[in-house]
Amino acid sequence: MPTNTDRSTATVGEPGGGRPSPLLEAHALTRAFGGGATAVQALRDVDLTVEEGELVAIMGPSGSGKSTLLHILGALDRPDAGSVSIDGRRYDDLADRELTRLRGEVFGFVFQFFNLLPTLSAAENVLLPALVNGERPARYATRVDSLLGRVGLGDRAAHLPTELSGGEQQRVAIARALLRRPRLVLADEPTGNLDSKAGGTVMRLLRAVVDEGQTVVMVTHDPGAAALADRVVFLRDGQIVGEVEGGDTARVIDAFGEVEASAPAGAERTST
Ligand SMILES: Nc1ncnc2c1ncn2[C@@H]1O[C@H](COP(=O)(O)OP(=O)(O)O)[C@@H](O)[C@H]1O
Ligand SMILES: [Mg+2]
Repeated sequence: MPTNTDRSTATVGEPGGGRPSPLLEAHALTRAFGGGATAVQALRDVDLTVEEGELVAIMGPSGSGKSTLLHILGALDRPDAGSVSIDGRRYDDLADRELTRLRGEVFGFVFQFFNLLPTLSAAENVLLPALVNGERPARYATRVDSLLGRVGLGDRAAHLPTELSGGEQQRVAIARALLRRPRLVLADEPTGNLDSKAGGTVMRLLRAVVDEGQTVVMVTHDPGAAALADRVVFLRDGQIVGEVEGGDTARVIDAFGEVEASAPAGAERTST
């Protein structure tokens, strides 16, 4: 598993004081689904670099390839061509078993619909990645408590998901994604199923964990959410068509408007 130590060892003494590898590097990613007349080119020649400690937002119209990109970054899918590397180590070409291991150890996932197990308490849901990995729960007892505290749910550990609001469930999902100290958290529309107040709370939490050193790549439709990112990358028809700095909702809205306006007329969109 790549760790901070591995990373600094790998870059120490590099000839000419070369720049350390970015945390994540995607190069010339291509991904198509289906074949023949119904083939969909979900990604075309996508390059993306993410530095450690960044919050990067990905925006784009429905069907523009955002989820496909996130899945490839998170080793849930493989590109047809191109490469993805973490700490300078390529992983798209790993064997399935290695890829599964990497997925569990290096990435944390947050999904639009929270994906908590309904029969497990909040604390058990947070512990789930360790259980799936065959680790002893006792090892994580204090970590689960501190993560639930971190997301503002210290008093909800024993509650079932049905006893929590959507925003609270998503905060449990964020705690779960952080459990095994992932190098990168990948979030696909984490506020997409929340009202604006709960969505704002979730976004401020993601921003705070990044400010504490975590790295996050997040897909969002919400310019206000994207504005909390350090950078906003725009996808259209499977290609990166622009990038703006975060920090300013109006700037993100303007840039997104340009991307949508420049989409080819009549292009078919599939909502996912
Ligand atoms: N498993 C799949 N099988 C077939 N087509 C897919 C699959 N996943 C995504 N697509 C298609 O690829 C394109 C990009 O999808 P997706 O990455 O989900 O877009 P977004 O997340 O931006 O809405 C869409 O046209 C979608 O229908
Ligand atoms: Mg999607």
